[in-house]
Amino acid sequence: MAKQKQLFICRECGQEYPKWNGRCAGCGSWNSIEEATPAEIMAGGKSAAPAGEFKYSRIGEISYEDETRYGTGISELDRVLGGGLVKGSLVLIGGDPGIGKSTLLLQICGYMGNDHTILYVSGEESERQIKLRADRLGVASDNLFLASNNNCESIIHAVVQNKPEIVIIDSIQTITSNAITSSAGSIVQVRECTNAFMRMAKSEEIPVFIVSHVNKDGGIAGPKIMEHIVDTVLYFEGEKQLSYRILRAFKNRFGSTNEIGVFNMDDDGLKEVTNPSEMMLSGRISSVSGSCVVCSVEGTRPILAEVQALVTKSSLSAPRRVANGFDYNRLYMILAVLEKRTGFFYGGVDVYVNIVGGLRLDEPAADLAVAMALYSGLCDKVIPEKVMVFGEVGLGGEIRAVSHVRERVKEAARLGFEKCIIPKQNFSSLSKSEGYGIQIIGVRTLEQAFRAITDKPKECTE
Ligand code: TYD
Ligand code: MG
Repeated sequence: MAKQKQLFICRECGQEYPKWNGRCAGCGSWNSIEEATPAEIMAGGKSAAPAGEFKYSRIGEISYEDETRYGTGISELDRVLGGGLVKGSLVLIGGDPGIGKSTLLLQICGYMGNDHTILYVSGEESERQIKLRADRLGVASDNLFLASNNNCESIIHAVVQNKPEIVIIDSIQTITSNAITSSAGSIVQVRECTNAFMRMAKSEEIPVFIVSHVNKDGGIAGPKIMEHIVDTVLYFEGEKQLSYRILRAFKNRFGSTNEIGVFNMDDDGLKEVTNPSEMMLSGRISSVSGSCVVCSVEGTRPILAEVQALVTKSSLSAPRRVANGFDYNRLYMILAVLEKRTGFFYGGVDVYVNIVGGLRLDEPAADLAVAMALYSGLCDKVIPEKVMVFGEVGLGGEIRAVSHVRERVKEAARLGFEKCIIPKQNFSSLSKSEGYGIQIIGVRTLEQAFRAITDKPKECTE
């Protein structure tokens, strides 16, 4: 009789070996390699199953109906999803433990439960616990069913039998599949269970939400390994100490990934923040150097944020550079440009840059604000409170054009700002006939931008 094939799998990272080893060469963990079950060997994809029929169609012959989208009752979430929840889609909501993922999903149950049956499966909390929280959030619906279960096959069986219209799985790290022996939360479990729920979402044509925690070390068994499987990845971000949260689309097969939703965590759940700029700037003190306001565009939304730079004398041979909410390498680049092109030296000082409120500014339009805050911090020159700036800083010290200029300028005007310092190129393209209700100054170089905050320049410095 032919000897049955043996396969060993690392329970931490999923690496396969023909022989047992004490230490996994893939992830370095000890004693994590175990013999695979026959089912896992089959699932290895090396079975010699006959190839299925291969079908293809001419593009023009493929018809589709408009995809059904459900409103979730929370417009911030609808926007991030690209206009509502798509039927048959698998949505991953990732985030640190305690950030508010379960709260958000329970809240949407309150609204969606009016018209749809929802199955909320929690592997973390008992039905009583969920009910308690639902009561506190004021969520009550006859269409909402709660289950405390963590078996993948039982959940899928229940869904196929009872056909709920929406399924919520909280969280994938607690779900285990019978086909795999490793513990809940391991990479193999998370991957296989996600695949199983994906098949369920597609075959039953129901939207499925999966909650996933990001672990401390950046998520080895976290959402990263699920991102390519699911349709939509949303990350819930925010400082736990602060009350507001940002929901960001990271991947979306049904919409743009630039959108964000802003929420505030209150005593009675998450509240939408429709005016994030006001929130980001609250608590700002004027007459302190090193502070500059920028208008960043997240998706289609302009949001004003405060950039702070603290420049202090350093006692270290290699001075410190700390960036919070801003790209570290970009900070180095801006410091280099400031030194080379404007002659301000940061060699003997520590530099700390912080974007207030836990916001992350990834777009180049924030460069100018960072440069201005650094300049203001070094020279102890206060940037007037009602000044907003944006623009990309080039290596030559030039200020380059960015997109969404009108939206940015209008947002600043709406919040009562008096002066905008923007790239000259953008200034030229702004329609002059439109009244913005704010003084706009176009600048070509960093030096012009620095001068624009102190001098009283003409409408445009050249
Ligand atoms: P939760 O949704 O349980 O987080 P996650 O599912 O992402 O792990 O949120 C838990 C936190 O939110 C907890 O620290 C308490 C806080 N919270 C409020 O401040 N107000 C509320 O109404 C609720 C339900 C939770
Ligand atoms: Mg939770």
